[in-house]
Amino acid sequence: MKFTAKERKAFCCLAKKYLQDERVRSMNDYIQHGSITTLKHCIMVAETSFWLNRRLHLGANEKSLVTAALLHDFYLYDWHEKSAGHKLHGFTHAKKAAENARRYFHISRREYKAICSHMWPLNLTKVPLSRIGWILCVADKYCAMKETVFHRR
Ligand SMILES: [Fe+2]
Ligand SMILES: [Fe+2]
Repeated sequence: MKFTAKERKAFCCLAKKYLQDERVRSMNDYIQHGSITTLKHCIMVAETSFWLNRRLHLGANEKSLVTAALLHDFYLYDWHEKSAGHKLHGFTHAKKAAENARRYFHISRREYKAICSHMWPLNLTKVPLSRIGWILCVADKYCAMKETVFHRR
């Protein structure tokens, strides 16, 4: 998915605050899928969400969308390591990421809920209830599939 120069500029403007933050950058220390780090995955999900929203004229708030997408896997641990603290990672990490995002960046309630629901339908009761929630949920699945298939270690 290609950005125009104008789109790239708009995206960078929204993402800058987060990408300059040490805690967000520390997601680069963890692998998400294949050879892709969690930070790289979050950036790809944010770019995909932004692009889908613009190209399909979905009308979601871009600032909230990029915020939720960049922080949707902000759980800050390596899920491949066995630990009692993050058992059942698939079911629990969305809430953990949302809590971290709220603690460090005071995200809005809508952004918090969008992050919490990004693992639907695995987390069956956490259905996305907003535009940003749905876009994030779809973009995450698309990116995860691409990373798993094309970036195997
Ligand atoms: Fe996730
Ligand atoms: Fe993700």
